[in-house]
Amino acid sequence: MSGERTSPAEITAKAVASFDACADPRLRTLMRAFVAHLHAFASEVELTEEEWRALVDALTATAHITDERRQEFILWSDALGLSMLVDALAHPAPGEATESTVLGPFYVPGAPPRSYGESMAEEPAGTPAWVHGRVLSTAGEPIEDAELDVWQNGDDRLYAVQRPEAPEDHLRGRYRTRADGGFAFVAVRPVAYPIPDDGPVGRMLAATGRHPWRPAHIHMIVRADGFKTVATHIFDATSDYLDSDAVFAVKRSLVRSFVERRADDPERPPGIDGEWVSLELELVLAPGADASDVIDPGRTA
Ligand code: BEZ
Ligand code: FE
Repeated sequence: MSGERTSPAEITAKAVASFDACADPRLRTLMRAFVAHLHAFASEVELTEEEWRALVDALTATAHITDERRQEFILWSDALGLSMLVDALAHPAPGEATESTVLGPFYVPGAPPRSYGESMAEEPAGTPAWVHGRVLSTAGEPIEDAELDVWQNGDDRLYAVQRPEAPEDHLRGRYRTRADGGFAFVAVRPVAYPIPDDGPVGRMLAATGRHPWRPAHIHMIVRADGFKTVATHIFDATSDYLDSDAVFAVKRSLVRSFVERRADDPERPPGIDGEWVSLELELVLAPGADASDVIDPGRTA
């Protein structure tokens, strides 16, 4: 054997083949492809030892900053577009149904049930937004007793889970549709905000000349018996960053125009004072059932 040299391609082939005997066929496929692509990346860019070390340091910092409140690994997935790609693969071609988008780290299950038209702002948080409409099937039939699990940030840019002093139920709530599929709630006009950028993901964004901002949006998960659950956002058409969302979550069909209303508008719903905005929305669910509900991946506070 002396005198023979080992090539990079041989190393890759051996590492890929090390999974040949894996008894679980899916795990075998995943590991072989993962190692093959990882090696192809390193070979293509001629990864240096310093760069490999920087990658290890970034992963180590990611582990150190991650705990039960902050999930920096998912933030990497979001900021690299992987979360949106996985979502798109899981929910292909929804046809007429409302498109899904990324869940994000600020979803906390167990929002309070709220009544038709109730405000989810437990304290002043911006311009009131009357959001109303219907939940329909793809056949155009109203869906009674669908649940809208809604959450959003306030005009300080923050979600309640990011503010220890905020009322726990601030800017979150679960609403149910009436017999005609109708729903209504009072939100606030959302504002653009930066994803948490004080950790390794933020350092990557700064180093690569990317910004951390997300366009203004309201999150919702819509569930109904016999229909596929959809986790989505409604984006404000006037927001900045619609074309450069830090997590690539904007889909054209989810961008809507809020209507600006004066304080003396005769359609002003009870409980709203001063200037307000309104938004009419049809949410459409595809028939079917989900094997599992939306998984709470842990939050970023
Ligand atoms: C959000 O919209 O809440 C979000 C999504 C991905 C990363 C950070 C925040
Ligand atoms: Fe958000």
